[in-house]
Amino acid sequence: MCQSGHWARTTSHGMITVMGDERAREDSSQGPVVAVLGATGHTGRFVVAELRERGYRPLLLGRSGDRLAAMVQDRPDLEARQASVDDPGSLDRALAGAAAVINCAGPFATTAAPLIEAALRAVIPYVDVAAEIEANVDTFARFGDRARAAGALVVPAMAFFGGLGDLLVTTAKGDWEAADEVHVAYGLSSWHPTAGTLDAGAVSGRRRGGRRVRFAGGRLEYHDDPLPTLKWAFPAPLGPQPVLGEFTMADVVTVPSHLDVPVVRTSMTAVAAADLSAPDASAPVAVDAQGRSDQTFVVDARVRSGRVERRAVVSGRDIYAVTAPLAVEAVERILTGRTRTTGVASAGAAFDAPDFLAALSDHLALHVPLDAQV
Ligand SMILES: NC(=O)c1ccc[n+]([C@@H]2O[C@H](COP(=O)([O-])OP(=O)(O)OC[C@H]3O[C@@H](n4cnc5c(N)ncnc54)[C@H](OP(=O)(O)O)[C@@H]3O)[C@@H](O)[C@H]2O)c1
Repeated sequence: MCQSGHWARTTSHGMITVMGDERAREDSSQGPVVAVLGATGHTGRFVVAELRERGYRPLLLGRSGDRLAAMVQDRPDLEARQASVDDPGSLDRALAGAAAVINCAGPFATTAAPLIEAALRAVIPYVDVAAEIEANVDTFARFGDRARAAGALVVPAMAFFGGLGDLLVTTAKGDWEAADEVHVAYGLSSWHPTAGTLDAGAVSGRRRGGRRVRFAGGRLEYHDDPLPTLKWAFPAPLGPQPVLGEFTMADVVTVPSHLDVPVVRTSMTAVAAADLSAPDASAPVAVDAQGRSDQTFVVDARVRSGRVERRAVVSGRDIYAVTAPLAVEAVERILTGRTRTTGVASAGAAFDAPDFLAALSDHLALHVPLDAQV
């Protein structure tokens, strides 16, 4: 039984099923149904593949019947349902029989709230991959109390940006319940953004009135200061790299949601920031059988309390591809009761962070150095 009490139970076959519409939700010969909104997108496709790989039955949701039909054409085992975030009834019908839902449809300023509402009505967990700071703030503010009261779990930003940094910070901080500063540095070799990333950036930019945002003094602060360029000492083989400081990512929402810390900074390799803002920015190109690009990453999370710094570092390949095991691992943990809380919770608050990262060792190489004096 999961912590929320009424979402999931284990069948005699060791399969997890959701109580409620038993006929639709339980099939002893196959894994649970997990709905994916935005299944036709670049990230959604990785999530669908990861679900299949782990024995779940992905239920493809999207707004375009044609795009869904094209995706399931040669895959009779896949089921797809058309739904619109503007039509709550269509979302309810689409989620019927699902044990959980993963939202990969950005901009999340548009899709998150209607789908969370539908997940709460369906009494199933909700996980999204939103990198939009304001949308993630909205999710905590609008649904925290209601999700907790319902015993439900809603996990926003369960992805490369937001979720992974939070798992690293939570791993690094260990037994600290407060810190003076958190800095997450992103060492991306390049960044070829998807259309969804560019759309999300444009929506967030408009919501900020073109201003920049940072987390300082224990709150989000909007400003017009130029971004500083720093040198960041990533571990070998990447080594020291120029980074744009205060290149603010979703970690400024996820980390302070459960760690008492006044300053959270995120930095991005200058080369990746330049790729992202280039007028001719191009989409990622698959170079391996799993559809991953040649992009590599190192994420270096440092947590300082006084003069002691704790650190956790991961490296891996393709920020979009690695989002799939992060989101699906979260769903798996929720459906098997390996959660720490209810309500709206970030990855670090919802799960055992070191154990979560260890479970993804096929995708992420984790290194936790000894404490350092700074
Ligand atoms: N936090 C992270 O690290 C992280 C990682 C990966 C992705 N993301 C975010 O996830 C989102 C998707 O990224 P992507 O790479 O998959 O982009 P993408 O390839 O452009 O796909 C976008 C998907 O969202 C769907 N969509 C957009 N607006 C919708 C709406 N109003 N209703 C229903 N579906 C809608 C699209 O459906 P159609 O096919 O109908 O257009 C498509 O399936 C972006 O916001 C991106 O920033 C975040």
